[in-house]
Amino acid sequence: MSTVRLVDTGDGSHSLRNDALNENYHSWHGAVTESRYVFVEAGVKEAFLLRDRIRVLEVGHGTGLNAALSLGYAREQGLALDYAGLEPFPVPAELLRQINYPSFFTDAEKDAFAALTDASWDQETAWGEQEHFIKIERGVQADFQGLLPAEWMPFDLVFYDAFGPEKQTEMWDKAIWKTCFDLLREGGIFVTYCAKGQVKRDLREAGFTVETLPGPPGKREMIRARKLPQNA
Ligand SMILES: C[S@@+](CC[C@H](N)C(=O)[O-])C[C@H]1O[C@@H](n2cnc3c(N)ncnc32)[C@H](O)[C@@H]1O
Repeated sequence: MSTVRLVDTGDGSHSLRNDALNENYHSWHGAVTESRYVFVEAGVKEAFLLRDRIRVLEVGHGTGLNAALSLGYAREQGLALDYAGLEPFPVPAELLRQINYPSFFTDAEKDAFAALTDASWDQETAWGEQEHFIKIERGVQADFQGLLPAEWMPFDLVFYDAFGPEKQTEMWDKAIWKTCFDLLREGGIFVTYCAKGQVKRDLREAGFTVETLPGPPGKREMIRARKLPQNA
């Protein structure tokens, strides 16, 4: 993928912009605000209602913002979270070190972001006493379960944070939802900032129960979907 550059967003936090795709990594209305709202509030907190140790899979690791906020939140709450992120186009660490996220972060989030930035790709890293993370330098296609370490299965939560359906149509193909469904445990949760009707219909077809939630600032809606136990 082509080069990316820093841009400012509405809450003062940076995002990255891919000029070739004409697409930002986060909302213009606020990168850190959006990330906390969609992935931590609607995703991580919800998943911790069911278990006190969760495994998160992110499609589109990008800058590691969602990962740092999630790991930081778990540490602050004394809960355990393991994170695996798929990313075929790693952002250079030199660029990540210029991002102003740390001025919006708690100490735990800062610590997580630094660890994620410094970590090698494709190697499991232990962070603190009970957390682990792995950044996997591979891209998702229809059937991507084989890209994930078998011992990390099943996941409790999927963050689907690909570029938008208008920019990367192939990332919003219904075959991908089937794989997401299969790699979640019963009760598992899928969240995305996207709220397109077609995505909701395709998620339902893959077996998910779909909720439309109010979106973060600047977005009317977002999607949260669940793999409900079969007899629920
Ligand atoms: C909206 S950005 C994600 C932002 C990121 N979650 C963060 O916290 O900074 C989309 C990301 O998806 C990545 N991507 C592109 N093709 C992909 C693929 N086939 N599989 C997984 N990720 C992909 C892009 O390189 C980009 O980093």
